Order: sequence, then structure tokens, then C-alpha cells
Amino acid sequence: MRIKQIWSREILDSRGLPTVSTTLQLDDGSTATGKVPSGASTGKTEVLELRDNDLKRYRGQGVLDAVSNVNDLLAPKLVNKEFLSQESFDQYLIDLDGTEFKTNFGGNTILSLSIAFAKASALSKGVPLYEYFGKLYWREGFKKELLELPEPLILVIEGGSHGNWVTDIQEYMIVPRKVKFPTFADALRAGSEIYHTIHDVLKEKGYTANTGFEGAFAPNQLKSNEEAFEIIIEGIEKAGYKVDKEIYLAVDIAAAEFFDTSTKKYILKSEKKTFTEQEWIDYLDKLFSKYPVHIVEDPMDQENWEGWSKITKRLGQSKEIVGDDLLTTNVKRIQKAKEINAVNSVLIKPNQIGTITETMRAMRVSEEFGYSCILSHRSGETNDSTISDLVVGSYAQKCKFGAPNRGERIEKYNRLMEIEKRF
Ligand code: PGA
Ligand code: ZN
Repeated sequence: MRIKQIWSREILDSRGLPTVSTTLQLDDGSTATGKVPSGASTGKTEVLELRDNDLKRYRGQGVLDAVSNVNDLLAPKLVNKEFLSQESFDQYLIDLDGTEFKTNFGGNTILSLSIAFAKASALSKGVPLYEYFGKLYWREGFKKELLELPEPLILVIEGGSHGNWVTDIQEYMIVPRKVKFPTFADALRAGSEIYHTIHDVLKEKGYTANTGFEGAFAPNQLKSNEEAFEIIIEGIEKAGYKVDKEIYLAVDIAAAEFFDTSTKKYILKSEKKTFTEQEWIDYLDKLFSKYPVHIVEDPMDQENWEGWSKITKRLGQSKEIVGDDLLTTNVKRIQKAKEINAVNSVLIKPNQIGTITETMRAMRVSEEFGYSCILSHRSGETNDSTISDLVVGSYAQKCKFGAPNRGERIEKYNRLMEIEKRF
């Protein structure tokens, strides 16, 4: 596939902050656009998100340098060049950049190209994007039966840096069990019904039902991290579903956001409580035996590897202990986690690592280690729904795409329902 044209521009994400959008055309006319998401509670070892730091524009958040890197530096090298595979395209960019964290061109710059190339290639081959990804992931082992709709982690309450710090725990999610909701559309329907019932519960309590970055409720009146669980349980029951049997819970604690690196303590600001590492693990263990939480993301700080090993030893038999900020979709960090049994599950975010090929590699290593993978959006999103196709066409069997609210989240859920109808 020879590349005919590439052009990139600055657009806004769901938070109104600039991000990169790149369009790529192959010489058979297949044309597609890749739009890049952006995080708020980012891991320290993510690839560079290149921003202009020009305080006269978008408070320093502009991405004109990234756009210019595509239009002026990379496009002249890529146009008229032939690439036989996604791997060779991505590897060419990785080599051109030449740095571990993509600090030359920016991970956002490179990912916009990688996504655009994947979509244009799928069009050129006349296959749906999820099938294109499936063939990339499973290679010669690909068969259509491997393509599967995910079990969704549906966000209903958010705090931390996503939701005015109404709770210290960043994300509270409900998960309709796949065995009870065999179609994705049914799982999403249950999630949406519960989401709206939680709205009723909040109103009855006289709480505000304002929402955070990812469309979930962020009521200012919440008194504790635990009260959010109470409200969710009430919502599930009032909506007519069985707690745990049909709907279980997941959390993203994003503990790095409230870990004090100097005192090595976990500090719940909303409750004015401080915990040593051991007290924190005891607290979480107790909390998760009281409520049916079976997936726990980022319970410990991103550099507290020992703490991770301890919590995985303690809770890992019965729960998925998921590394996000800890692992940043990075093969080396996933391997390090394996050496010390720090996790048993990996959050996958393409923009943490910067190309589709490296995202696939992170999933392959996770699969080899027997870890589950959860494909995730970012708090700043666009209407690009590539990750919906990616979760279907890869090893990841769960997805974390936010609340059933806000266009950029809904686009991804709708794409999954559309894919399900095509099967
Ligand atoms: P982020 O949050 O996109 O702001 O990093 C998502 C997450 O922590 O999982
Ligand atoms: Zn996270």
C-alpha cells in the first residue's frame, strides 16, 4: 500500500482541549482519519504527549507542533512510500523517532498516523476494522470465532481529578455479567437503566446530578468514598437487577493521584484520613468484602511496586488487580510486573504507548502471562471509535469506555452495538 497524501490538523477533545487529527490517503483512494485522546490522570511512564507550551494559545495546551511534525516532517518521508503491513508502517515511525518515549515527534503525533493508516488499510482491503485488527493480533491463527464483543465496565460515579474530587476514588463502574447478558446490547441497556435509576436516587436524596469528564455523576454532597457504593447498590436494586449475581462492581482508584511520595502515605482528602501502605491494603480489603467489587484498577501508587505485589497476593485470587498508571501499556513494565507478581490484569490504552503495533504487543505479552486485558478510553476523548473495533479484534475481553452519556463515549458504545449486529 503506497501512501498518497497525509494532512493533519488541530481539533478539540471532549474537554475542549486541543488534540491531533490526521488524515491519510492510500493510492487506491482509501482515506481515513485518526483522532487522538488525552488523559488527565496520566501515568508517569506514558509516551510524550507533545503540547506547544505557548501560553498565548489554549493556555499552553495547543498541539500545533505535533500537527507540524506530521505535515512538515513526517508526511514528506511517508508520501509515495509503500508499506506492506501495519507493523512495517508503525516500526518505520518508531525508528524515525528513535526514542523510548517518543520524545522526538510526540506519541500523539505518531498515534494519529498509526490509527489513520489502520483505518485506511482496512478500507483498502475491504474488511471491517475489527477484522483488520483481528488478523493483526492473531496473525495466521485468525478465525472469525475469535472476534468477540466485550464485557463493559460502565461508569456511573466519578470523582478524583475527573469529577471535582467529590470522592478520592476516581471511577465507580458497574459490570453486567456476560453470562447473564449474552448480547452486548442487553448489557448496555442494563447499564443505561441503572445509570438513570442512580440519577433518580441522587435526586431523591437532594444531591446534584452534575457529571464529570467521562459522563458519570459527580455529586458534591457525597460524604464518603463508601457512600458512592451505597448509592450504586440502591440504583442496581431499584432498576430491578440482582447485585453481584447479574451486576458486579469495578473501581479505578487512581491511587497515584493521592499518594504522598514524601511520607509514603495514602491520603483520602475527601474524608481527611491518612493510611500507611499496610493500613491502606487492609482498608481496601474490607471495603471490597462489603461491596461486590471484583475489578480493582490502580489500588497502589505507580512506583510502589512492592505494595502492588502485596495487594495482588492478598486479593488477586478473587479479583482482577489491574495496572494502568503502573504499566502504561508498556511491555517492559508488564514484564517487570510479572517478575514480582504485581498484577493479574492490564489496562490497555493505545495513546500511552503510541502505535497500534505496540498496543498489540502489550496485549500479546499479557496473554502470554495469563493476564486479562481491559481496553480503555481516556478522560479527554473524540468521536473516534477505533478502540471499539480494537477490543473486538484482539485478546482484550473487557472495555472501559465511560458512562452511557456524552457523545464521545456513546459513539464507542454505538459502534459496538453496530458490530454486534454485523456478526
Ligand atoms: P485518564 O483516566 O484518561 O484521565 O488518564 C482514565 C484512567 O485513569 O483510567
Ligand atoms: Zn486508570
